[in-house]
Amino acid sequence: MKKRILRTRLCDMLGIEFPIVLAGMGSRGKATPPALVAAVSEAGGLGVLGGAGMPAEDLRAAIRQARALTNKPIGVDLLLPATLAEAPPSRAAVRAELRKKFPEHVAFVRALMAQHHLPDAEVAHDFVLSRSVGEGHQKTPQEEQVQVVMEEDVQVFASGLGDPSWVVPMARKKGMKVMGLVGTVGNARRQIKAGVDIVIATGYESGGHTGKIATFPLIPQVVDAVAPVPVLAGGGIGDGRGVAAALSLGAVGVWVGTAFLVSDECAIPDEHKGQLVNGGSADFEIGRIFSGKTMRGYRNEIIRAWEKSGLDPLPMPYQKILMDDFNEAAATAGRWDLHSNPAGQVAGLLKQRRPARVIFDELVDGAIASIEELKRGITAV
Ligand SMILES: Cc1cc2nc3c(=O)[nH]c(=O)nc-3n(C[C@H](O)[C@H](O)[C@H](O)COP(=O)(O)O)c2cc1C
Repeated sequence: MKKRILRTRLCDMLGIEFPIVLAGMGSRGKATPPALVAAVSEAGGLGVLGGAGMPAEDLRAAIRQARALTNKPIGVDLLLPATLAEAPPSRAAVRAELRKKFPEHVAFVRALMAQHHLPDAEVAHDFVLSRSVGEGHQKTPQEEQVQVVMEEDVQVFASGLGDPSWVVPMARKKGMKVMGLVGTVGNARRQIKAGVDIVIATGYESGGHTGKIATFPLIPQVVDAVAPVPVLAGGGIGDGRGVAAALSLGAVGVWVGTAFLVSDECAIPDEHKGQLVNGGSADFEIGRIFSGKTMRGYRNEIIRAWEKSGLDPLPMPYQKILMDDFNEAAATAGRWDLHSNPAGQVAGLLKQRRPARVIFDELVDGAIASIEELKRGITAV
């Protein structure tokens, strides 16, 4: 068989064969588990582990599991706070405030739980929102996570949110590349100031938290704004045509999330994979119901009930804490149909579950075929 070649300068920067990166997805370790991260790296791309919300030692264990499966480069994506001083209060404190300040919202969720016969459940760990307490220099959970990433055998750090400037010097010392996720040109400029090596621009179509600007207008604007810093394109890329389009827009590679959610290695519930392969693009809508921030995911019965209620979603962190506990109750009851399922519009293109290797190879082969087809089918002189 002819050796496939699809190379950009991203491949040289990261030491990978193909410019295709698994987007870090921090969904309790389920969306980008070590097996999926390793499968993408083994296939010649870069597997990125979504570590958001993982306690530091769980993150270390996940990195080591991925490392046991591949010697190729891997990355870790974390959500950093806007500033280190901005660590919010504990879940217990937020729950108490919710009951006091927003009894209507709490009562609405309790009624939803009763209607669906869900058990009482609360998210046990206090990672995301715990504040470093006490005197002295106790580390925030995010600082602990970053420390783990620096101590382990990881080649790329991706910052999904916040300001990575304090991570850059540590990463440089280690020879690690830093990438920063953005949804606007302004944020891209801020990431450059923070010192990132690569900007990841993700459009409105994306799964999970997303901005207002679609991938097509976003990518060329970010490419122009941050040149010569390279840009990875994300949001709505699900086959080789999407990869070729991203490269045409000036990106040096792609950051692919949703398309890998239907891989065999991905550990999200089967029911959620079913929503992805059976749903159309319009079934994946933006809402603030599950996290308080604009997030794209499968439009389920719970989202519809909130909309009918006339209640506005609460600001961060209230809505997230309220609905994290609801999700926990739905998960405990195995009612994945009621649980949030963050995913992007490109789900409409996904028709079957397959091994990650097959999904990856199709992205590569499809991109090569698309580029060949462009050369054959278009006269441009
Ligand atoms: C289930 C899920 C969880 C996600 N979690 C994170 C996260 O923790 N950190 C992050 O930077 N981006 C996260 N994202 C966004 C992805 O990294 C990526 O930008 C997006 O999936 C790209 O668009 P696509 O889904 O159309 O491929 C998440 C996306 C999904 C679908």
